[in-house]
Amino acid sequence: MPDLIQISDDLTFALSNAHFAYVFRVSQEGVLEHLHYGGPLSDPLGVPRHPRRMNRHVVPTFQGTPYYSLSDTPQEYSSFGTSDYRFPAFHGQNADGNTVFSLLYETHEIVEVKPPLHGLPSSRGDGSQTLIVTLHDRLHGLRVTLSYTVWADYGVLARSATFENLSDHDIDLRHVFSSALDLPADDYEIQHFHGTWSREFNEERIALPQGRFVADSARGTSSSAHNPYVAILQAGATESFGRCYGTTLVYSGNFAISVEKGEFDDVRVLAGLNPFNFNWRLKPGKIFTTPEALHTFSGRGLGALSHHWHDFIRDRVSPERFRHVPRPTYLNTWEAAYFDIDEDKVLSLAETAKQIGVDMVVLDDGWFDGRQDDTSSLGDWGADPVRFPSGIPALAAKVKAKGLKFGIWVEPEMVNPQSQLYAQHPDWILHVPDRVPSLGRNQLTLDLSRADVQDYLFDSLNAILSCGDVDYVKWDMNRTMTEVGSAALPRKRQQETPHRYMLGLYALLDRLVASYPEVLFENCASGGNRFDLGMLSYMPQGWISDMCDPIGRLAIIGGASHLFPLDVMAAYIGPSPNHQNGRVSSVRTRFLAGAFCAARGVSLGQADIAAHQRELSDWMRFAQDTKADMVGGRFDRVKKTENEVAWQYSSRDGQTIYLTYFHSLSGPNMPARRVYYVGLEPTAAYHHADSKVIYRGDALMQSGLPLPRVSAREVASGVQCMPEGDFSAYLFVLRRI
Ligand code: DGJ
Repeated sequence: MPDLIQISDDLTFALSNAHFAYVFRVSQEGVLEHLHYGGPLSDPLGVPRHPRRMNRHVVPTFQGTPYYSLSDTPQEYSSFGTSDYRFPAFHGQNADGNTVFSLLYETHEIVEVKPPLHGLPSSRGDGSQTLIVTLHDRLHGLRVTLSYTVWADYGVLARSATFENLSDHDIDLRHVFSSALDLPADDYEIQHFHGTWSREFNEERIALPQGRFVADSARGTSSSAHNPYVAILQAGATESFGRCYGTTLVYSGNFAISVEKGEFDDVRVLAGLNPFNFNWRLKPGKIFTTPEALHTFSGRGLGALSHHWHDFIRDRVSPERFRHVPRPTYLNTWEAAYFDIDEDKVLSLAETAKQIGVDMVVLDDGWFDGRQDDTSSLGDWGADPVRFPSGIPALAAKVKAKGLKFGIWVEPEMVNPQSQLYAQHPDWILHVPDRVPSLGRNQLTLDLSRADVQDYLFDSLNAILSCGDVDYVKWDMNRTMTEVGSAALPRKRQQETPHRYMLGLYALLDRLVASYPEVLFENCASGGNRFDLGMLSYMPQGWISDMCDPIGRLAIIGGASHLFPLDVMAAYIGPSPNHQNGRVSSVRTRFLAGAFCAARGVSLGQADIAAHQRELSDWMRFAQDTKADMVGGRFDRVKKTENEVAWQYSSRDGQTIYLTYFHSLSGPNMPARRVYYVGLEPTAAYHHADSKVIYRGDALMQSGLPLPRVSAREVASGVQCMPEGDFSAYLFVLRRI
């Protein structure tokens, strides 16, 4: 492996590979000064130093050093109180009761094996080197260890920080960001993804304002309100142009990504635990580790930025066991029957599933003891004796006897007040003394920071999975946290509860995944309310949204694709009219909106399936035939206008190039538009099966392919046309010959 980390004698550090260079140095004062994050450099140690300002009206003397102010010094890990007034990476309270710390360089080392993060998921280190730099506040005995990992083959940099209390007094940790990135003054935009239930991943781009922009969550899940992903873009960046910096976290709870434009227009990006409503009491001799932050850089626009993420996430974050493994197609009972489900219906849906050619039946909500609607029974994980008299292991065996796989839905982190579990353990929920807990979907959140709760959940799930016939688990989580407190923690530690909850959840998932490595877990939280790299570390795919209307879902998949590969997304053909927005759409458009997701399927009742059986069978055959292609390939957003979307998906071997084109509203006599393919082999020949035409790669990329239009007359003459009407979709498949 090439040397990925260089260090000069005067303590300049460079982490670099073919995709980027990241450089910082130790100043004469001992401050870690950031020097460069951007494209690769032939001599990364030789980048220019940041100029010192000799004449100014800010505090110009840093702890006795004249003409040095941290306010305009780009830093690796800032603290508060010694001349930097920007939002700091670290903020805490020391034994004297003040919040002034000064973290100065102490030591460094390079390690070949990426250290795991204590109790937290993190990216796999194969093919990487890690630079560890320690900073120390000697006055208050706080050591901060910064970790930087660079891989030979990926454009991603991983960072985290660890705090160690070397004093004999408590230190309260308030800001413990995982990473800080100080970028030079420039004309930037912020790209972020916001939303709510059924409207996740709306992309917003705004000019980076003076002051501070924060994407964050205090809801106990990373949340659909703001996904933990923010990119800083060179103003005007497109899919193929501009410098772009992406930041995300391997974490699923309360996070913040803060972007601040300081008084000298320089930009600070902080990523980590949300400092709002957070306090961690660090006892003498104790250690606290932050979640992992990930950064990537592209000098060639948003498309290349996404490719860096996609390659890295599927190779180094998502579970190795399912890497490049084609996913089963499935029939999910939720929109087929909701709570009106029983053993006979599951078996009859299994027969139907066989007829239309899907691989797996997933029994969604409504199967456990007393669960007839959403008012009861979460927490009681035995099968309902009336509606599922044979029990889950026997049902799973019956489904499998038909040659299908079997999957099941659970929502382990929750309890309904109307349940045996709550009657036995009312203290097991998140709550605060003497205050009535708020209900969300009639349910309460279990306190996963408690070992007894984790054990109960492990045993409950173990009882379901140990039969050996469950191939897939949909892990749902349908409310956010309120009255966040734990009966198991002392008064002074109550604000640790949300992070301790996450540590408990990860400990439970570690145990389950280790016990059942072959089970395919699908992450869900009312759709995409916890769609992040923390959950993805355990669950190779996720239910990105309850929005199955294709036009709604296009925006959601398109937004999420900026960070996530479609390998980790699930999509199914739901009912029409759609149950969330009432839109009527064709089976074809409903399928094609999710055609490039690795996991595909159907959630329709018997009557709906019967009415469209031939078409559904055709699309499920297409899903079967293409499932090996829909893992590990390359996804490109090749067109996006108010009315149109076109996506290109190239299989991993480059042999098959799929292109889906959607228009929302139909129009007569439309202009002849083109789509320009990307990433093809210029001189290779590609055969378009429908038109029987052969194109060269360079022609498809440079000259483009005319897109079909709606035309009743052309339909009649057999020319390739867009299906008539609104919300229509077209699929091109090119094979390299
Ligand atoms: C919310 C999920 O997003 C749905 O797909 C479904 O599983 C329901 N929960 C079941 O309660």
